[in-house]
This record gives sequence, C-alpha cells and structure tokens, in this order.
Amino acid sequence: MKILFVSSEMNPLAATGGLGDVVGSLPRVLRQKGHDARVVLPLYRQIKQDYLEDLTFMRWAMIKLGWRTMYSGLFRLDLDGLPVYLIDNEFYFGHDNLYIDYSFDIERFSFFQRAVLETLGDEMDFEPDILHLNDWQTGMIPVILEAHYKSKDYHKNVNCVMTIHNLKYQGIHGREQIQDLFDLSDDYMSEGGILKDGVPNFLKTGIQYSNRVTTVSPNYAKEIMTDYFGEGLNGLLAAQGWKVSGILNGIDTESYNPETDAEIKTNYSPNAWKRGKGSCKKALQAELSLAQDAKTPLFVMVTRLVEQKGLDLLLHIVDELLEENVQLVVLGTGNQEYERRLAEAAGRHPDKMRALIKFDGKLARRMYSAGDLYLMPSLFEPCGLSQMIAMRYGTLPIVRQTGGLADTVQAYDKFNNTGTGFGFLNINAHELLYTAKEAISVYNSRPDAWNNMVQAAMLSDFSWDKSADEYIKLYEDIVKETYQID
Ligand code: GLC
Repeated sequence: MKILFVSSEMNPLAATGGLGDVVGSLPRVLRQKGHDARVVLPLYRQIKQDYLEDLTFMRWAMIKLGWRTMYSGLFRLDLDGLPVYLIDNEFYFGHDNLYIDYSFDIERFSFFQRAVLETLGDEMDFEPDILHLNDWQTGMIPVILEAHYKSKDYHKNVNCVMTIHNLKYQGIHGREQIQDLFDLSDDYMSEGGILKDGVPNFLKTGIQYSNRVTTVSPNYAKEIMTDYFGEGLNGLLAAQGWKVSGILNGIDTESYNPETDAEIKTNYSPNAWKRGKGSCKKALQAELSLAQDAKTPLFVMVTRLVEQKGLDLLLHIVDELLEENVQLVVLGTGNQEYERRLAEAAGRHPDKMRALIKFDGKLARRMYSAGDLYLMPSLFEPCGLSQMIAMRYGTLPIVRQTGGLADTVQAYDKFNNTGTGFGFLNINAHELLYTAKEAISVYNSRPDAWNNMVQAAMLSDFSWDKSADEYIKLYEDIVKETYQID
C-alpha cells in the first residue's frame, strides 16, 4: 500500500512535541513491513539550512489562494531510505519557529494543504492510496479533495485517515477568509459542512470528511466522546463513532534503549540495571550540583510547559513535596508563567530542586536514565510518550490515570505490590502529593517490590509493532470499501 503522511512536524527535521516523534517513527515501521509510506511537510527555514545539500528540487508551481497567487516549490529529501517531500514558500515557512501566531498559522497551513493536493500524483511522482492526516493543520484536505479534485482521475480514489493527537487545537477562523482561501461553494458553509457553531473549524472538517478517524490511545478515544474531554466536538465524534478508534502510539525502542544509548553515563539492562542506573543518577546529581546521594529518591520531569501537563498541580504542592528527603529536576520550555514559577520554586529549594528552562534532548536522556520517579500529572493526555520512555529506562512514572497514561502505566497495587508506576484519579494536587509520598515509601521501605516494578516497567512492550499492524488493517479496510463502491 502507498501511504502519504501529511503533517506539520516530523522528527528529526522539525518538531515541538509528540506529533513529531510519531511522524518520525511510524512511517519507517510501515516501510519495514513492506508498505510504501512517505511524508510531506513544510520546508521550514531550519530544514533548509540543515539539509541544504540533501534537498532535491522537483518542480515549482503557482497556487491560487484566495485573491493571491503564491509560489510553491516542491523538494525531496531521502532520510535514511524514507522519502520526505517538502513544500517551499519563503513567506509562509521561512521562519525560525514552526508556529507563529494563530491567524497567520491558519493561512500558512491553508496554503500547505492546497499545495499538497496540487502536487499529489504527477508532480510528486507518487500516487498514494491513503493520505494519513495529523491534527488541525491538515484537517481541510478531505473537503478540498471532495470539492476540487473528485473529477480528476487519480484523485478519485484517494482516501483519508485523520489522526487526532490533540483535540484542544482545532483551527478556527472567520467564515469569509476560509471560504476564500479554499475556494469553497456556499454548500460547504453549513453545520453539516465545515462549520462548527457558525465558524469554520479545520479539525471538525477533518473528522467529518475523512474515511476514518483515529486518536492515539484507546482510552482517549472513549474520553473524547464525553463533555469533559470532547472540547465541543464530542457530539460529532459520538455521532460518527463507527469510524473512530484508538491506536496506541509506540516509541522508538531502538533509539530509546538504555542498553545502547550512547548519551547516558553507563548502559544497563532489565536484568541488571541497579549499578548502571545508580551511576547515571550520580552523574546527573554531580552535573547539576545536587548532593550525590544514592538513597534520595530523584524525581524528574521532561515536558512542554503547558497547562495540559498538570503543572498547576505540581506547583501547588511542590514546597510540601520538597519537605521530604527528595530531589526534583524539571526540564522544558513553554508558557512563560510556568517557566517563571518553576524557576522561583527551584530558587526556594536550591539544595533539592533544579528548573532547567530549555529544550535539550540529550539532557532529557540523562534524566530518564538517572531518575527514580517520573512526574506526569496531566489534566488530559491523548497518549503521552515520555512516560513510556521513562519506563523503558526504569524510571517509574507517577501519572494521573487519564487518556493514554491509563493505557500504558499499570498503577501500583499495594495489596500485591505490583505495577509499572503510580497513579491517581482526580485533578487534585493533594492526590498527586499523596501518591508521590506513597511512591517514596515504597522506594524507601519495600526494596523488593520496587525492584520488581522497575524490572516490569523496563520489560513492557512499547514498540510500534502491534500498533503499526492496526494501522495497516485500517488502511486495508478503507481500500477494500473504495473498490467495492466503485
Ligand atoms: C500530542 C499529545 C500527546 C501525544 C502526542 C503524539 O502531543 O498531547 O499525548 O502523545 O501528541 O501523539
């Protein structure tokens, strides 16, 4: 099968979060399983700089976008055997950041989607059976296909899978501008078309017009049908429930492997982790000028600093948590208010806490390997990748049991002394604190239970293998339906 992933992010080319990781790894796994998966994304400035010599120019065209006619270049890059197409336009993508501001982003990704459809087939020299769309930045593709391309030969049989990585961001903008950018007739400008509560909504459109909709964990697929998690789209999702499913993300288990990871101080394995993990912990404590104490539980957190990640819960109890004999290291960037409050908390506890306000993938690996406990008290979490990485490195996550966190972490069972992490249910800072204290007490007084949990976490299967098979089955079902109808 031929599958084209359409996305605004892809690791290692351009990423701000988990979406980039997924698009960086799933297409490769599909290729290993014998399918021709490729990716298309915008040619951001950084990619142009870093990969200048590897880029092959394919062609250019002028694309009509509202009253404007815009230049659109198409480049190709071979990324260790994975073909990646890049859409070039200086005005839209010649910037340092992937995202700029809301209203300009709407226009930028409108252009991107139109350019992708213009180049599909002949121009790319690739006729995918499936367009695999990701998040709001790609949500309009199925409706543009229907409105402008259904009469064209090749485009007739293209089908769309829409994956929701985050329901909170939907791509909402004024009616006239969107109608104009996509050149849509009045027929589409209704609640049954692209509008949601009177305004165009990209993600809603993607859900409505795609052949199938997936999200990134089975539990989140259920949650988004409810008011609390549905972000206003729960009604539509429930009504179209037959085409919605949850497929759990995997992680890149080759790259994230404590047995071979070259970035960490000492490598270690599920059967012999104590010495290696201890050495990693000591090295991180030294690096950050924290007391090099093997017995003090070390909490780590690597995250985008946004509300979703439950930072308010942590900040509410951080002083109480640090009354215990523990150390805490937080790494990430994002919302300036969180950056400031975390730095302040670290300032109040110079002997116990560090707030590292930056993005640093190598440091993140040193933290995953050094930590005893990993904090992830998310308010909602479509899947979450870092809790899986933490477990693979034997760092037990403390999570709120929501979305993919509930699907991936087996919460500590105090009667049987088993689990792969610790969990709490409600959005309540003291439940987080209580659970952290429970974890500290297992760490301090039940070493056998702790050791078993670390080993169980490290042995959990977070590879893409099973999930990739589920996507393949989904693609095959859609293709079968198409040819029955024809
Ligand atoms: C988004 C979600 C996260 C998910 C990731 C990849 O970043 O917030 O839960 O793991 O996408 O699907």
